[in-house]
Amino acid sequence: MWRRFLRPLLFCLDAERAHRFAMALFAFSMRLPCVRALVRWRLFPREPVLRVRRFGRELASPIGLAAGFDKDARWFDALSALGFSFVEVGTVTARPQPGNPRPRLFRLPADRALVNRFGFNNLGAQAMARALARARSRTVLGVNIGKSKATPNAEAAGDYVESLERLWPFATYFAVNVSSPNTAGLRDLQAKDELRGLLGAITRQNAALAKKRGAEPLPVLVKIAPDLLDPEVDDVVDLALDLGLAGVIATNTTTSREGLVTAPDKVQRCGPGGLSGAPLASRARAVVERVYSRSGGRLLVIGSGGVLSAEDAWELFRAGASLVEIYTGLIYEGPTFVRALSRGLARKLRERGQTLDEVIGESARARKN
Ligand SMILES: Cc1cc2nc3c(=O)[nH]c(=O)nc-3n(C[C@H](O)[C@H](O)[C@H](O)COP(=O)(O)O)c2cc1C
Repeated sequence: MWRRFLRPLLFCLDAERAHRFAMALFAFSMRLPCVRALVRWRLFPREPVLRVRRFGRELASPIGLAAGFDKDARWFDALSALGFSFVEVGTVTARPQPGNPRPRLFRLPADRALVNRFGFNNLGAQAMARALARARSRTVLGVNIGKSKATPNAEAAGDYVESLERLWPFATYFAVNVSSPNTAGLRDLQAKDELRGLLGAITRQNAALAKKRGAEPLPVLVKIAPDLLDPEVDDVVDLALDLGLAGVIATNTTTSREGLVTAPDKVQRCGPGGLSGAPLASRARAVVERVYSRSGGRLLVIGSGGVLSAEDAWELFRAGASLVEIYTGLIYEGPTFVRALSRGLARKLRERGQTLDEVIGESARARKN
């Protein structure tokens, strides 16, 4: 149904419009109890072998939705029903902002890829807090925070901290996004000294908020670009360990256009932006492996990039990911994708008689020996 009918129909529309239209329709239909029940019955994966414990919670599977799909948390309830065991909303910024001019999202079907230059279009942290206050889902919630465009890098920490404060009561974890290619200068925040200042301010405020509420600080992860050089990845890992961060999300989209099969003039017409999907898979895997090895498995690694099949997810786990997130795969494979991934992963585990935790880091360890 998705491949033969719905996807061709949606792919006739401008990519951003198709996304909004499909999600608005889905979220609306999910208000009907019979649709909700049908979706849960047909789409929600039930694979006990995939259960994992992360963020101090039991998760039904290690598969989550990556940031950018639900920038304002307006579809959190509906997306939870698609079978994700966690949903990362955002990127949200302290101030509302319109993002870059349209068009700003492009499909490259021959490469099973997308190019986007949204530039953190979102309604701001306050609006997200209002949306989350209304949400009913108990699904693990990651809140991905970024810098408002109007805020200079020198004042970035205050901007991130403002979002952290507003959204702290709702989040299970925070993802600090310093890796989007679509906000000028943002990726400079990945440099050692800048990142220490930023993450230091965030972890201090996280601890202060936790103390005020008599709770534990929330897990904080940093999301990095696939375009970092290996020594730069090592620096981020060392800093994350030093500051007591929970983990690293590897990776965001890439500015590289290497290895695409799409005609170069079509690629060029998309203009600048971050590339996601299949062409990102091998670099994302390499960064995941680097983070896992450098940290000796002491950081939680969320693998993100190019998961379009159970085999892709499997390889990310073997590289060292403890969880995986998907975005582009959902666009190309449709709403049954999470179930298909879950089934494929569960089959592999059963065939091999392994638990997921035994698989994590297998290829990274093999390379070391
Ligand atoms: C249209 C689009 C918008 C995105 N927006 C964000 C964002 O706001 N914040 C973020 O951290 N990552 C964002 N991403 C990156 C994804 O979260 C993910 O890390 C990346 O796309 C790689 O995964 P994939 O190959 O499964 O899509 C976006 C990706 C796409 C395709």
